[in-house]
Amino acid sequence: MTQKNQTLGEFIIENQSNFKYSSGELSRLINSIRLAGKVVNYEVNKAGLVDIIGAAGDTNIQGEDQQKLDVYANEKFIQAMKNRNIVCGIASEEEDDFITINSQDEQHQNKYVVLIDPLDGSSNIDVNVSVGTIFSVYRRVTPIGTPVQLEDFLQPGNRQVAAGYIIYGTSTMLVYTTGHGVNGFTLNPATGSYYLSHPEMKFPETGRIYSVNEGNYTHFPLGVKKYIKYCQEEGGDRPYTSRYIGSLVSDIHRNMIKGGIYMYPKSSKLADGKLRLLYECNPMAFIIEQAGGKASNGFGRIMDMNPTELHQRVPFFGGSKKMVEKAEEFMELHS
Ligand code: AHG
Ligand code: MN
Ligand code: MN
Ligand code: MN
Repeated sequence: MTQKNQTLGEFIIENQSNFKYSSGELSRLINSIRLAGKVVNYEVNKAGLVDIIGAAGDTNIQGEDQQKLDVYANEKFIQAMKNRNIVCGIASEEEDDFITINSQDEQHQNKYVVLIDPLDGSSNIDVNVSVGTIFSVYRRVTPIGTPVQLEDFLQPGNRQVAAGYIIYGTSTMLVYTTGHGVNGFTLNPATGSYYLSHPEMKFPETGRIYSVNEGNYTHFPLGVKKYIKYCQEEGGDRPYTSRYIGSLVSDIHRNMIKGGIYMYPKSSKLADGKLRLLYECNPMAFIIEQAGGKASNGFGRIMDMNPTELHQRVPFFGGSKKMVEKAEEFMELHS
């Protein structure tokens, strides 16, 4: 039962039986993410105060400049999960390859792998705009007792056992699902605890917000162009409102509360769009669906895609069910 004002710690204990494989391991995993999230939150909040903003000088495998906080957040989350010895492997947007975790006392006994986007929307830090963290959890498919393999990470999104995000916004929130709906917890900086502030979050069935980087309009497929025009035309409750932050987490979070669609389509410049299937699209899709919304690549369900590589990108359309269905109609009609 969800009860407002419960702390995240209390909520996890009470709902532990909801976990498909209830061993306490998944609870401890979420716990470690919430703790690392607090540490990262502290750094993000003081980004403007210390000389931590600006690129660290490295580029990640995807050719993006790594911001200092990208690197910091990556280290913190990996460290938290390694130290507590609760997962057998981690893959991160900021790491070229997956990391195998081999505890000394128990040889590869942990069951779960985590995929993480440690800092999402990191280019927004320099301008004091909300950023986030996204995580996705799977049960490994290779035998326990052996080192994890690539196939443990390349699972379709429909096999996720948990997914969530932290949003470092005007408030810091942790929103997650284990396949039994979506709940949101707000961090009270005074006590250091997260409180259940948004129980059973639901996407309105339809909405009036569309979120897309319209600067890329010329390069979008015809179906997307036509859908954007549809959003802008008079008719029914249209024209819709355009809102785009450029932080996936923040854009989806807002649309989940207010109703809307988020799109990062492919373009003539980016053949598969920009967003990463494993670190961004699948976890967000799990949350969106659990909140009654829909997540698509324009033609089919995101979570049914079979990943072929860790850093794979994919076109993404997610949000209020009716709006995503409408966008799919346009894609179908003009493909
Ligand atoms: P990240 O900072 O983790 O690399 O992700 C950035 C992503 C996502 O957060 C956002 O929605 C998108 O990039 C914005 O891209 P554009 O600037 O091309 O619109
Ligand atoms: Mn990045
Ligand atoms: Mn991201
Ligand atoms: Mn990132």
